[in-house]
Amino acid sequence: MRTPIIAGNWKMYKNVAEAMDLANEIKRSVFDITNVEIVIAPSFTNLGDVGEMLIETNVGLASQNCYWESEGAFTGEVSVPMIKSVGCGYIIIGHSERRKYFSETNETVNKKVRACIDGGLIPIMCVGETLEEREAGKTLEIVKTQVEGGLAGFDEKYLEKLIIAYEPVWAIGTGRTATPEQAQEVHAMIRALLKELYSEEMSSVTRILYGGSVKPDNIESIMREEDIDGGLIGGASLKSDGFVDIIKTTGDLYAKKGTDA
Ligand code: PGA
Repeated sequence: MRTPIIAGNWKMYKNVAEAMDLANEIKRSVFDITNVEIVIAPSFTNLGDVGEMLIETNVGLASQNCYWESEGAFTGEVSVPMIKSVGCGYIIIGHSERRKYFSETNETVNKKVRACIDGGLIPIMCVGETLEEREAGKTLEIVKTQVEGGLAGFDEKYLEKLIIAYEPVWAIGTGRTATPEQAQEVHAMIRALLKELYSEEMSSVTRILYGGSVKPDNIESIMREEDIDGGLIGGASLKSDGFVDIIKTTGDLYAKKGTDA
């Protein structure tokens, strides 16, 4: 069974004091959860302090972006070795907000995935269609192009720890969640694609998260779908109660699945 992951994407919210408070509340509420991989992604300015607070806890740290060169004259950018040095184990790459507002493309995503893995961190590579693309019946085609483009040139062994997040753009921050069936359809397609591009083994071990208006009251129905291995949570990860609820529901469901199997 794939261990589920619940990752909180804090986006551009929280100053350092607020981030420390939230991280502390989460850390204290989830210390005894062992069957969910928990990750939080504060903004760059808060990674150092939050990272220190999370040392030797069961809460992992992610950055929300990176640059692909390891150092150099790239004003304003942050490299993978720098991100690693503050305690991150993961990097969110190619989030739709980065694609939309900061001109990220499948090519830049590909370079960042490479830099992330070369630097020893785990990429959480985001893909997802816009509303226009969905309405034009192009969802599967768009997501396929994003997965293939993001992973171009890598072999299976290299992608051992890859995490993919399917986030339909129209569901992000809108309160309009994809139905579990809509999400499952795309997750199953991504899994089938991994099998076609790599192998059955790769397709069965890779974790694929769903993101887009995940809340405590819809996590259960989403997590019941066969190919959904967790969530990338934006808005609902900014308050500890809701985020912890999501983690606990996921853990309970996973424990139940274990007994059912
Ligand atoms: P949301 O954001 O949960 O606020 O919709 C998800 C994301 O952007 O990762």
